[in-house]
Amino acid sequence: MISDSQTVARPSAPPVAPARLTSSPPPAHVAIIMDGNGRWAARRGLPRVEGHRRGVEAVRRAVRAATELGVRYLTIYAFSSENWRRPAAEVSDLMGLLKLFVRRDLAELDAANVRVRIIGDRQGLSSDIAGLLTEAEERTCRNTGLTLVIAFNYGGRQEIVRAARRLAEAVAAGRLRPEEIDAEAVTGALDATGIPDPDVVIRTSGEQRLSNFLTWQTAYAEYVVLPEFWPDFDRAAFAAAIDEYHRRDRRFGGLSEKAG
Ligand code: FPP
Repeated sequence: MISDSQTVARPSAPPVAPARLTSSPPPAHVAIIMDGNGRWAARRGLPRVEGHRRGVEAVRRAVRAATELGVRYLTIYAFSSENWRRPAAEVSDLMGLLKLFVRRDLAELDAANVRVRIIGDRQGLSSDIAGLLTEAEERTCRNTGLTLVIAFNYGGRQEIVRAARRLAEAVAAGRLRPEEIDAEAVTGALDATGIPDPDVVIRTSGEQRLSNFLTWQTAYAEYVVLPEFWPDFDRAAFAAAIDEYHRRDRRFGGLSEKAG
């Protein structure tokens, strides 16, 4: 595991160093299941909220690293539909951290030309959180740099259900014929349109579960599991995950390119 001292030392790394010394292009879309905040805190005898707080700092590092490494889309799993099952105090801490993140970081994200998009169910959110998420999207909607997709109150199955309802409403309204519903139409009815499928999903903390994340969009994604807990995630971990992705032989159901 990466120690705190290493984490502190790394920001002095060259700002635009390539992920690896080959000409492989970076993945366009990286999606991250940020796991291990609680265990990071427990190992240090700290309350879980401290792990989440340090997790927000790791989010900032991930956004910077994504930009430096040439990634175009970064999706982070910030709060799942299932996270409501956690103790009320922890849910409240996570909501508070998201509010703080948007209030404190939005101007900086905007200045860095980051476009913020949100996926997930807005209906279940308090009006102040829903308002902040909308503000983040609206303020940054003309930015052309990294697109940061925040999955909040998000579940992959629930998103597919929302897409099915949108398509059914279009059919009922006479704007769409049932035979026009294909994979492209379903993709277009998901929460955020115009975002390519993730090339790679990274999960930290060594866990090997998908946890209802981007269920439709990850059909052909590579999964890379990193041992670090999320609060220790940094540019080096990001680059290591991209290196691992480059070692994979993506086939999309066809033959290996290496097969000639
Ligand atoms: C998993 O760790 C992490 C989460 C449930 C939420 C991730 C949230 C943050 C990084 C902070 C808020 C995010 C933003 C964008 C402001 P865990 O608690 O499940 O860890 P454990 O498995 O070790 O208990």
